[in-house]
Amino acid sequence: VSAAMSEKPWKRYSTGGEAKGFVDEMRLVAMTLHTRQQAQEGEMEAKAPEEQRVEEWEPTLDGYLKFLVDIKVVYDTLEQIIEKPSFPSDGEFRNTGLERSEKLAKDLKWFEEKGYGVPEASSPGVAYAKYLKQLSEKDPQAFICHFYNIYFANTAGGRIIAKKVAEKILDSRELEFYKWDGELSQLLQNVRDKLNKVAENWSREEKNHCLGETEISFKFYREIVRLMLS
Ligand code: HEM
Repeated sequence: VSAAMSEKPWKRYSTGGEAKGFVDEMRLVAMTLHTRQQAQEGEMEAKAPEEQRVEEWEPTLDGYLKFLVDIKVVYDTLEQIIEKPSFPSDGEFRNTGLERSEKLAKDLKWFEEKGYGVPEASSPGVAYAKYLKQLSEKDPQAFICHFYNIYFANTAGGRIIAKKVAEKILDSRELEFYKWDGELSQLLQNVRDKLNKVAENWSREEKNHCLGETEISFKFYREIVRLMLS
């Protein structure tokens, strides 16, 4: 076991020393949790199929539909929480332009109209949604960690996956899920600025608590990504 794997990655950033704002800290932790096959900055060893290079994946259309249905449950829940938050600071993240719920609804409608069988939501999506709902009521720092990872994962790795998977099984069709109204880089920067601002009011302990939640976000999200390969 390498030093990088035995140590909790967020501990390396838990002084905030290397990072410019809190989003940088969240990003550094997230990057270490990727496998070397997933991202250049990844530090983990790939074991499960979804941790291998995306080029080597063998996605199925049924699996991809399962993924879309389950990830929609997660975005629906996240966006409902932000609409009526238990903690007022979460309201900062209303109408960021990153919302995915309606886009996914359009994609699933398209598949239905084409006669594809759209499945019911399954346990990976339902379990993550339930966890998010609980966190949103009691743990604002941990909740923000998930908010960041869920939206930013989709714009980074998600788009790489989308391209490869679309080439293999969708005749290169681009889904609405990967389209944003407006300039994506600007939308992301606006959200980074807001996240940095919210975290300015947190103690070092609260920040570390947020960073420590990244592993849980990866665990839940990976279970959903894995559906593509089922
Ligand atoms: C960034 C790939 C899964 C969260 C990235 C980047 C790549 C990547 C290549 C770097 C983008 C850049 O150059 O800045 C992948 C692949 C995955 C995967 C192939 C396969 C399953 C995940 C998961 C999460 C996640 C499960 C968390 C739930 C993030 C975050 C960033 C990132 C937060 C930083 C985005 C940014 O700075 O804008 N990913 N990723 N990724 N990924 Fe992943």
